Amino acid sequence: MSKIDNIYKNGDFNHLPFSFNEEVTQVFEDMIERSVPGYISSLKITEEITTKLFQKDSNFYDLGCSLGAVTHQVSDIVRTKNGNILAVDNSEAMIDSCKSRIKDSHISFILDDITKIEIENASVVSLNFVIQFLEPSVRLNFLKGIFKGLKKGGALLLSEKFSFDSNKEEETVSRIHHSFKLANGYSELEVSRKRDALEGVLISQSQAENEGLLYESGFSEIRKVMKNLNFVTFMAIKL
Ligand SMILES: C[S@@+](CC[C@H](N)C(=O)[O-])C[C@H]1O[C@@H](n2cnc3c(N)ncnc32)[C@H](O)[C@@H]1O
Repeated sequence: MSKIDNIYKNGDFNHLPFSFNEEVTQVFEDMIERSVPGYISSLKITEEITTKLFQKDSNFYDLGCSLGAVTHQVSDIVRTKNGNILAVDNSEAMIDSCKSRIKDSHISFILDDITKIEIENASVVSLNFVIQFLEPSVRLNFLKGIFKGLKKGGALLLSEKFSFDSNKEEETVSRIHHSFKLANGYSELEVSRKRDALEGVLISQSQAENEGLLYESGFSEIRKVMKNLNFVTFMAIKL
């Protein structure tokens, strides 16, 4: 059970940029549920799509797995089809926590940089709010590697925070997202401290830029399957 996220509440926060360290790992479940509208739905949609598209004897990749919420959601489906889950994160605290909580022979938790691993024999790949933390310049090559490692008929599920081209729209939607976080119990001060910590760490791109990256990587069938405020989920199929 995750602890309540009080990291930015009191004087005990550090002024460093945001990172997925031990402190964040301990409260991560609470943090993401209170900060990302539609997070739980993104897990359920991943489950639905995995039920339809996961192929027998193939691999499911949960890239940037954090505490393994996606892995947990699809575990039974993958096991039934004799598949394996490779859940990868470069945060030692996150991977250690996954390893101590989820033990199943068809799941491997791997401490590594997702841009350095080879994707192979995959029928579903999940990137649930992850590439926003990668340098924009490496995103295209990384997605090309995923496309290459997917089997025909396989899918990449890409969920991202996105930015708007129009400042007016950005302001309006950001204001609603701000209220969403306040309604979930964060104070103005916490929201503003976290925003400062994420500056330069979370780099969002527009919906069109994300779609463009998917097309350029080789995907030709791309569907927007969910959108909540400034968060979007695409399903990209390898035909
Ligand atoms: C917002 S969290 C992802 C949430 C998770 N997918 C879920 O659905 O609960 C982003 C994760 O990506 C990981 N991450 C960021 N850059 C990474 C990289 N280059 N290689 C591996 N993991 C990375 C972070 O450590 C963090 O755990």
